Amino acid sequence: MRLAPVIPVLVIEDVQHALPVAEALVAGGLLALEVTLRTECAIEAIKMMKQVPGVVVGAGTVLSPDDLTRAIDAGAEFIVSPGLTPKLGEAAILSGVPFLPGTANASDVMLALELGFDRLKFFPAMYAGGPAALKAIAAPLAAAKFCPTGGVTIDNAPEWLALEAVLCVGGSWMVPAGPPDRARIEAAARTASALAR
Ligand code: 3PG
Repeated sequence: MRLAPVIPVLVIEDVQHALPVAEALVAGGLLALEVTLRTECAIEAIKMMKQVPGVVVGAGTVLSPDDLTRAIDAGAEFIVSPGLTPKLGEAAILSGVPFLPGTANASDVMLALELGFDRLKFFPAMYAGGPAALKAIAAPLAAAKFCPTGGVTIDNAPEWLALEAVLCVGGSWMVPAGPPDRARIEAAARTASALAR
């Protein structure tokens, strides 16, 4: 979460896109990449992206202990989930992998803290109330630090990053769907990696 101000959230539709996307993002200064397990080729994409020097590849949209195992077997170095269940949390603890569970309210955060997780995704960030909601939720739960994701853009990222409880944000805006345009992805990554926090 401290490697860069933004974690790109990636939906890789074609495994041929994996390397150019990862190379362009890393060239632009974004080193931690979240590959969502939403596409057929996601596991293969994680394996390919790990070839890029300096990259830290994680898996997102991890919904079950089975997803967790598949992601770790592919070499994922961190795991992100839109939510948190006791089963998934226990599997993450047993595996020892860094795990960012999704939370959207105070009870979610309290469950995460109870299970031993204090680095959390706030999801879906803009629709769960935006920066004002997270500020209010985080106030009594100071042990938790967040990566807001869901509706975050280059325009609203500064407002999130200004919050004390926010270590970084996540978002998909740097990599539009379709064949990757390396120069555009690198430029978007460079702008994102220069955000203050
Ligand atoms: C996620 O997968 O965490 C979010 O859906 C990414 O949200 P965005 O596409 O709004 O950035």
